[in-house]
Amino acid sequence: MRTKVLMVCLGNICRSPLAEGILQNKVDPDRVFVDSAGTGGYHIGNPPDPRSIAVAKKYGIHIEDQRCRQFGPADFSEFDLIYAMDQSNYNNIIALASSQAEIEKVKLLLDEVDRYGREVPDPYWNDNGFEEVFEMIDAACEAIAKKL
Ligand code: 4NP
Repeated sequence: MRTKVLMVCLGNICRSPLAEGILQNKVDPDRVFVDSAGTGGYHIGNPPDPRSIAVAKKYGIHIEDQRCRQFGPADFSEFDLIYAMDQSNYNNIIALASSQAEIEKVKLLLDEVDRYGREVPDPYWNDNGFEEVFEMIDAACEAIAKKL
C-alpha cells in the first residue's frame, strides 16, 4: 500500500502546489502518492501561480500541470497524512474532521523541521516571498521523505 500525503494551503495555487511538487521529487512514486488541495474554493481548476511555477522550475521541479482543487471531508479517508501550511489552514481542515483519528492525521508542515517557526507564510501578496517559501517547504519535505 502506498502512503498517501496531502499538502494543504488556502488557495492551492502558491504554497501547497510547491509542497506537492517538492515532496514528489524526493520520494519513490511506487511507495508514496502526493497531492495538494486548498481550503478555499477561489481558484478551482486553475494552474498554480506563475511565481510558484517559476521558483519550482528554477530548482528543476515542474508543477505547471497541477490544477487547483478544494479540500473536502473525503480527503480524511483518502489520505494518511495531511500537512497544513499555516495555523489558519490547520484550523479550517480540523473543522471538517469527524473523529479524533481524522484530526490526528493533520500536522503543520513546519513541525517537521526545527527552524523557520511553525507557519509557511502566505506569499500571495508578496512578490519576494516565493524563494523563502520554497526553502522552508523543501527543508520540511526533506525531513518527511527521510521518514516515509
Ligand atoms: P496559497 O496562497 O494559500 O499559498 O495558495 C493564496 C493564494 C490565493 C489567495 C490566498 C492565498 N486568495 O485569496 O486568492
